[in-house]
Amino acid sequence: MKKLMAANWKMYKTREEAKATAEELLKLAASSLPEDREVLVCPPFTSLGVVSEVFSGVPGFFVGGQDFYFREEGAFTGEIAPGMLLDQGAHFGLTGHSERRHVIGEGDELVGKKTAFGLASGLSVILCIGELIEERRAGRVEEVLERQLRLGLADVPNDIDPERLCVAYEPVWAIGTGEVAGPREILEAHAFVRKTMVAMFGDNANEIRILYGGSVKPSNCAEIIALDNVDGVLVGGASLQGESFSQIVLA
Ligand code: PGA
Repeated sequence: MKKLMAANWKMYKTREEAKATAEELLKLAASSLPEDREVLVCPPFTSLGVVSEVFSGVPGFFVGGQDFYFREEGAFTGEIAPGMLLDQGAHFGLTGHSERRHVIGEGDELVGKKTAFGLASGLSVILCIGELIEERRAGRVEEVLERQLRLGLADVPNDIDPERLCVAYEPVWAIGTGEVAGPREILEAHAFVRKTMVAMFGDNANEIRILYGGSVKPSNCAEIIALDNVDGVLVGGASLQGESFSQIVLA
């Protein structure tokens, strides 16, 4: 299974800035990218095209959308369809990111509809899950992760190609705070995600990549990526500079 080193640029960068960062990343990481790693950049929708152009023809480098809607087209002002992401050269799409859930207010059912529709439309999908600090303090981590997985993957067919589905465990209290989860917290959560997905999808789920996200940086990435059941990382802040993201990609 190839490790997936993913960047989420959130609402940052003009097209020119996105192009420059993508070019710098290639310059620093493309020639030394190990065979068993893949790189994904999720820029704002407006920069999908330029980043796709920069990555075009470079093996192991992919582009993704940060979210999408569960319809092919229609009167859905402000939304974007999976087919439109594919048309801009994207291979991946995120669903259920913590900021979609907790800032914009998306619920599990909507996240589940998007996940299934994105997969059916031909995107590879990264379903993001993770508990709030209050939920962790109340001992509810497994309950929350199980609910987000069961509802988020409710309509995904059992025989889904495991290469096209990833889950990102991102404890909300570790996103953008500089506070990274400790190895024990990551190991426990990832083992629980694996066990739950095997219960849902059978052995197939052993091939589904589970990414960790939340304050990943060049200084902690090597340790995190070496943990059991950690098949990649999803990086926000430290992915915005080509220099620091290239160190993460090669860590
Ligand atoms: P962060 O964000 O790396 O800035 O904590 C992670 C994410 O939101 O995916």
